[in-house]
Amino acid sequence: MKRRTVVVGLTAAAAVPAVGVGVGSGVAQAATRAGSTDASLVFDPSTYTELTTSITDTEGTAHEVTYHFYKVSSYVAAPVDVTYQGLNVSVPVAVDGTAVDATGAPILFANSVGGYMPSSVASATGIGAGGGAGGPGGPGGPGGPGGPGGGNSGPNRTLLALLAGYVVVEPGARGRTLVDSSGVYYGTAPAAIVDLKAAVRYVKFNRGRIPGNVERIVSSGTSAGGALSALLGASGDSPLYARDLAALGAADASDAVFASGDWCPITDLEHADASYEWCWGGNPLGDGSTVDATISADLKAEFTGYLASLRLAAPGFGRLTDRNLDEYLVKTHLEPSATSYLAALSDADRATYLAANTFISWDGTNATFSWADFLAHVGARKKGAPSFDAFDLSTPECNEFGTGTTAARHFTLYSLRHAEGAGARLDSDIPERLHQMNPMFHLVEQVNPNRARHWWIRLGTKDSDTSLTVAAHLAARLRNLGDDVDITYYWDAGHGADNDPGDFITWIAQVSGHRPASRRR
Ligand code: DHB
Repeated sequence: MKRRTVVVGLTAAAAVPAVGVGVGSGVAQAATRAGSTDASLVFDPSTYTELTTSITDTEGTAHEVTYHFYKVSSYVAAPVDVTYQGLNVSVPVAVDGTAVDATGAPILFANSVGGYMPSSVASATGIGAGGGAGGPGGPGGPGGPGGPGGGNSGPNRTLLALLAGYVVVEPGARGRTLVDSSGVYYGTAPAAIVDLKAAVRYVKFNRGRIPGNVERIVSSGTSAGGALSALLGASGDSPLYARDLAALGAADASDAVFASGDWCPITDLEHADASYEWCWGGNPLGDGSTVDATISADLKAEFTGYLASLRLAAPGFGRLTDRNLDEYLVKTHLEPSATSYLAALSDADRATYLAANTFISWDGTNATFSWADFLAHVGARKKGAPSFDAFDLSTPECNEFGTGTTAARHFTLYSLRHAEGAGARLDSDIPERLHQMNPMFHLVEQVNPNRARHWWIRLGTKDSDTSLTVAAHLAARLRNLGDDVDITYYWDAGHGADNDPGDFITWIAQVSGHRPASRRR
């Protein structure tokens, strides 16, 4: 990577006019949005490093991309920890020697959270170098799937976005394991979403100073990062975060995003144990053993009422219930997934695959199979029961709901009462924390008019980090609300897969109405 540091006119930040102040899309938001106009929040467009890097497109052709790389040391006026509360901005200026004007380009807001862990971009010296601390791991945890985007060796979407002429913003965010010198956990819920919202506010506050169209922010993330991306999309300008944002000195601007890209979102945490048993409850663990049948059955029974409460409907199925949901998943997501996988294979490879997977019927055009056979095909479940709110508090999610000097807490009544007895009550702040962390709350219980209206949702069919219903429910609910949803399950893919990053980049141009000023080819 070639680099050239350009420090043009070290203008005092305060001298730059605050053109972004108060810009927003609705009167209703104003009350929730009073924020900081501190001079430290003013982006200086003139201080960047010019870098050149090679980016390989989806066809395998390498391109030389020159971009301006900006480091923002803190996106809030009163940071708790600048290691995590900074962001980087990458602005393409030339591709293969032809100038690119990103002034009105969409902005990819790519978080790198994995495992609800802290993620920092502070030491990154170029695009794409930020990262979370990897997968959740930990004793009794689900095992570390690696950082977001893991499992794919092809071009990554952040670099492809830059190559396409988009602005890329990479925010850091606090995460669940951060502890201060007094033993206080300062990165547990809702810290990560509050930070990401504050970073969005920073970008919008700097309308006209940060290159790109701040009304076309597309958020992205994988796994816990996918959950947070979905939450950013669902909860734009919700008053539920106002107090936390104010405490950080978040900028006086909207935190609503235009579109949300969510890969294998580990979300809807308070229903995740029940959903997991409904989906994978009959599957063995990796060592061939089975989970406790009573616990699995108890949790699965909870799923019925939960699904009913969502009041989801789908064409051809009517109301989704626990009696038709399996067929809905098979027909809506799984068979189409297998069909496109098989259609893309050579005749010989398809024949080999079908011979090894006789549960699939292939009529030359379409794959069909049963839910039971599909589950057997996936095989071992990754997590025990309960999968998320472990009785011994050992899971990443129990840590995510830690508070003060308490590292981990129960966030479901089922696990709490199993651990502490029938009379136990959840800590009084837990319901609000759950609402702050769950996109479904903002789509079902309090339908948010400021949510994103364009959604890209992806999940591997062999991803048993959470139930296959989680992404399906999110998509079904959004469609019921009339939003634009592009959802695909990647056949036989595991956790963290991104098998069509180029299509995501094309989709961003489509939904944002972006027409590149200078076409490269
Ligand atoms: C992630 C994976 C998990 O299984 C989980 O419970 C939480 C987060 C992740 O990869 O981010």
